Order: sequence, then structure tokens, then C-alpha cells
Amino acid sequence: MARDHDQPVAVLAPVAIGATYEGRDPDLLERMLPLVDYLEVTLETIAENKNGKVSLSPEVMAELKNAGTATKVIVHGVSLSIGSHEGWSPTYLHLLDDFLEQIDVAWHSEHLGYTKVGGEHLGIMLALPKTEEALDLVCDRVRAIKERYRLPFLLENIVHVIPDCPANYSDAGFLNALTERTGCGLILDTYNLECDAHNHGFDIPTFLSELHAESIRELHVACGVEDNGFLLDVHSQVTRDSTVELAQLVVKQSAGNAQVVVYEFMPEAVPGLGHDTIVGELSRLRAAFVN
Ligand SMILES: [Fe+2]
Repeated sequence: MARDHDQPVAVLAPVAIGATYEGRDPDLLERMLPLVDYLEVTLETIAENKNGKVSLSPEVMAELKNAGTATKVIVHGVSLSIGSHEGWSPTYLHLLDDFLEQIDVAWHSEHLGYTKVGGEHLGIMLALPKTEEALDLVCDRVRAIKERYRLPFLLENIVHVIPDCPANYSDAGFLNALTERTGCGLILDTYNLECDAHNHGFDIPTFLSELHAESIRELHVACGVEDNGFLLDVHSQVTRDSTVELAQLVVKQSAGNAQVVVYEFMPEAVPGLGHDTIVGELSRLRAAFVN
């Protein structure tokens, strides 16, 4: 019998469902809470810059504190710049310090990339060169973060915007070495894998066959748009069936270690998507992964 593509069939051990929430939309939060086990918060998005001082929005922090204990919070950073040679962002760590003093989180995470070179913001996040030198640098920083916060820390695969430079490792080999050396977990974003496959001919089956999937704790699903033939890592659409099916495969491969699938969408995309569509997407993901 043909499968209804609006309601993918749940696979294997159930995983939890999470969603992005960046605050200032209490109606959306109220509708999402019954459908999600985790809220993923990006500190930079809920921060305010007042007179040059960057701090967490008291309004959004109050929303999160009042969201109840049934839904766990996970923090997902975008500006730590863990791979910048000259050092990471102290501003991000101050935000994280402040957040963790106020709200308990299940774990926190960042992207395996860099957003600054020589102290200058690139305006984009770039993937690390997969060299021994870059691996040593990131491993040292992961160990320092784990020591500083005593919380599980995850790193996420990001899209490749520019061609790779010569490397010592494959993409999966680099992630395997990183998790083996530091004990950090992985977020696997299956839409990012699809972007790389579409834009650069990235071989997803080969990557997945090499990756030590038991290190995956979290998956991301999302969807953006195509521009000039380039599939963009923007989170403005409902997830494609192919992305959900790839995430189901990865959950299976993680052998029970993947704990949550997070639907990511930008706050800027909410008016276009609409609350009904977002709620419908979360129900669809529950059907695919939980029920
Ligand atoms: Fe992601």
C-alpha cells in the first residue's frame, strides 16, 4: 500500500521531538509545548545589545522559565566560533554562563565551524579544514568547554559553502576522531547533508557508512530554498520527505543513542510559515519518530 507522505511511519526506538524557540511569540510557544519534549534556544537570538553591552533578554528568559518543566531546554549556539585560530568568542561564553545560572539545560551545542578570522566577522559560518592541526585545536577547546560547564556538549555538521582545502581526514573520519578523542556528542543535520549532496555532490551513503553513528545524540531537520541552483542552509520551509526519511535512517543507525529530532526554523520565517503549519509539522514529526 502506498504510504501517506504527510504522515511518515515511525521507526524503531522512539526519539523525542524538539523545536526552535527564539522567544517573543507566546502564542506559538503555547501551541508548540504539547508537541515538543525539548525547546532549542539560540542565545544570540534571544540576546539584546544595549549601549554596546550584550545580554540575555529578560522578557525571553521569563518566557522560558514559565514554560514548565515538562519541556526540557537545550542551548544551541551560533557564534562561539570554536574553529577560529585566534580564539573563540568570549561574548558567547558570557551569554552561556548567564543562561546556565538561570535555567537548567539537558545539554548545549555549537556548530563545527568558524565565523571569524583575525577577529573579523565573516558574516557566514565556514566548515573547518579537516586537518590534524584543526582537529587538535577543536579537541582542546571541546575539552575546555566540557571542563568549564560539566554538561554534555555536542557539535553539529555544517554545510560546505566553499570548496574543501587539502585534508588529512574525510568528513566522517574527522567527526569520528573528534568524538573519540573528546567524548563530545554529535548533532547530525540531515538537511545540511542534503545541501552538500545537492551543491557539491557529497556522497551521503558513503559518509554514513563511515560515521560512528553511536556518537549522535541529536538530529536536525529543516528546509530552505534553492537559489541559482544552490540549495541554501536557511530554515524557512517545512521539511521535505527526503530529509525526514534520512533522519529516520540515521536514528536507526545511532542504535538508540539519538535522543531528539529538532525541527529548526528561523524566527523570520514564522510569519510566512504560520503557526498552523509549524504545529502541523511538529505533529508530522511526532508521527514519524515517536508514535
Ligand atoms: Fe542544524
